[in-house]
Amino acid sequence: MLPNRDAFPEGFLFGAATSSYQIEGHAMGGAGATHWDSFAATPGNVAGAENGAIACDHLHRWPEDLDLLRAANLDVYRFSTSWARVLPEGRGAPNPEGLDFYDRLVDGMLERGLKPAATLYHWELPQPLADLGGWANCDIAGWFADFTETIMSRIGDRLWSAAPINEPFCVAWISHFLGHHAPGLRDIRATARAMHHVLLAHGRAIETMRGLGMGNLGAICNFEHAAPADDSSEAAAAARLYDGYYNRFYLSGMFKGSYPEDVLEGLEPHLPKGWQDDFATIGQKVDWLGLNYYTRKLIAPDDGPWPHHHEVPGPLPKTQVDWEIYPSGLRGFLERVDRDYTHGLPLYVTENGMAWNDTKDADGTIEDSARIDFLAQHMEAVREAIAEGVPVKGYFIWSLLDNYEWSLGYAPRFGLVHVDFESLNRSPKTSYHAIARALAR
Ligand code: NOJ
Repeated sequence: MLPNRDAFPEGFLFGAATSSYQIEGHAMGGAGATHWDSFAATPGNVAGAENGAIACDHLHRWPEDLDLLRAANLDVYRFSTSWARVLPEGRGAPNPEGLDFYDRLVDGMLERGLKPAATLYHWELPQPLADLGGWANCDIAGWFADFTETIMSRIGDRLWSAAPINEPFCVAWISHFLGHHAPGLRDIRATARAMHHVLLAHGRAIETMRGLGMGNLGAICNFEHAAPADDSSEAAAAARLYDGYYNRFYLSGMFKGSYPEDVLEGLEPHLPKGWQDDFATIGQKVDWLGLNYYTRKLIAPDDGPWPHHHEVPGPLPKTQVDWEIYPSGLRGFLERVDRDYTHGLPLYVTENGMAWNDTKDADGTIEDSARIDFLAQHMEAVREAIAEGVPVKGYFIWSLLDNYEWSLGYAPRFGLVHVDFESLNRSPKTSYHAIARALAR
């Protein structure tokens, strides 16, 4: 059973999140090529070599999607702007159709009483910039600031909030160290550089938006609870290091003006020259922090090269993508982030949700009680953190729609609304109706 809106403090906001490449249909509307297109076209990278060419066709069906958000009694729509849709070459001449699209989308939200919460970058880097080294090239901070200026000069006056980069960890580590996301590198030097440049780009974008007079600016990081695989001191150390490069590195850069010692042990030789001088930019004041949270990982030590560990499967119930369901991790992060890094700054859960293999019953119902339970448990974790005095101000569900789940393609279904990827028809699941009831005023 989901808690009602009135179980949360007055003014607490509920939302749903999506991202541009995952829903819009990148082949349409004059968008330029991105590193995700070439990554997906390379055999072995993405299930079925699927890509975001059509996705949910949100580019044309956005009025219906905004109506769905409104009818679910949600307050906020967290969406992202595609760099390559706005600037097809990454720099230079904008695509007027792309700017018009986001302009109309924001107006469409306001007309429906939805608060527009923009994320500037959610992973689809324009290919011409990827060709120049992408996130490993320090010039990316300037390129990103220019993109920020272009898009925000058009829509920044009507946004409720804006955050530069979705999940710096994924932009850097998953993409350059593990090779699971575009550009698919496995290169410690490119990783260290991307980790630093993603923070530098964040800082430059915040500066740019402040310069345009915008407020309510934040950062959005993802967190995974790292648990030792056994009770040895080696496993404890392995979990601590995983926590370091996953959860602490970006917060430390933004809120403490330094990087954690344990992470520097492995990465310092690979960071760009003069990295210590960039913290004034990286630490630009933000107005809130967003936490994306899904799961925990069990970490076991090994004799391999740094970081000398690997993940092992855990015993807890799992979602469709094999992620353990662990709601107390969310409460733990909300408390820890407030205590150790943000000290009273408003916090938002900017993503939380689960993939499930949702199917339609004969009568057309899409019964997803597992998702309702998942959301209820995590909303309860948020309430517990609030009761402990943590200033959590909102909770946003990933996702409004079933969509393109990156290297896993279209099979994992994260939506409150089912999407038939043949007809592109939308069908609200039972979780959607449960949310609409719980949030009714
Ligand atoms: C994090 C990302 O922001 C989003 O793009 C992704 O689909 C969800 N988590 C689920 O994996």
